[in-house]
Amino acid sequence: MKIFVTREIPGTALDKLRSSGNEVNVFDNDRPMTPEELLEKASGMDAILTLLTDKIDGKVIDAIGSQLKVISNYAVGFDNIKVEDATERGVVVANTPSDEVNEAVAEHSWALMLALARRIVEADEATRRGAYKGWEPGIFLGINMVGKTLGIIGLGNIGLMTARRAKGWNMRVLYNKRSRDEKAEKELGVEFANLDRLYAESDFISLHVPLTDETHHMINKDAFAKMKKGVILVNTARGPIVNEAELVEALRDGKLRGAGLDVYDNEPNINPELVAMENVVTTPHIASATWEAREKMGQQAVDAILKTFAGEKPENIVNGEVWDKRIK
Ligand code: DGY
Repeated sequence: MKIFVTREIPGTALDKLRSSGNEVNVFDNDRPMTPEELLEKASGMDAILTLLTDKIDGKVIDAIGSQLKVISNYAVGFDNIKVEDATERGVVVANTPSDEVNEAVAEHSWALMLALARRIVEADEATRRGAYKGWEPGIFLGINMVGKTLGIIGLGNIGLMTARRAKGWNMRVLYNKRSRDEKAEKELGVEFANLDRLYAESDFISLHVPLTDETHHMINKDAFAKMKKGVILVNTARGPIVNEAELVEALRDGKLRGAGLDVYDNEPNINPELVAMENVVTTPHIASATWEAREKMGQQAVDAILKTFAGEKPENIVNGEVWDKRIK
């Protein structure tokens, strides 16, 4: 079978793929493929291992050919793939959720919250430029985390892991999700809140919802208007969940104390006004970038391909209906 990998990935997973007896082709440039390159190189393949920078829809799947069996996406999020187009064509789509990735993203959300609460990036920049002239009582005043309220929007696995860490800081946690999670309420002491209440009472808000039509730009001027003054917003989920232009306004008006952003509305472009603000901490979509998480992602992405070839249902299939039809 022929497999196309759209970019070299860290860790040992591709060695496993290469020693599987299949033909493995890896894009030989260390950058995202253009749509034209993807169409050309992936044509005739039985499987593709894609990254979140690859846009896959019915047109691409048709161009690759009807032999395509599986699209294995090296990410938890799969909003870069039109899953319904793959399902219609009987192509398996799989993703790579795991404790390792979820923990890494939760840790990064906390890193951003802490960096903003204690103004770490601003202070680091000042120290490096030689502005530290001796202890002063009034420089870089931040806020304590202890006793504050953390609002978590989306209490899936990453949201839960983010919530769990708040215990150590003795914080109150409000959460919002479609349905209540009574187990989490009992185990972690988190409290369900509708969005209006979560906005009104949270000192920190961390986003953990997937990008869908419903969540696109859900954090907009109406949401900012309902938020408590001085809130810190963190987004490690997907950029388009936040309306960036309206975020700039909310930061400028002082409604938000700060924003920690790992993802952007139109990656890799970042609104230049955000980058210029001292109370914004930006990272380049690295929330899952730990060795442990990347190794696990690679292994899962490769296993989904090898399992599909072997006629075994991949663990992380996202369109199970394709499999159910296939085994009838
Ligand atoms: C994911 O897994 O969805 C991250 O955003 C990229 O690793």
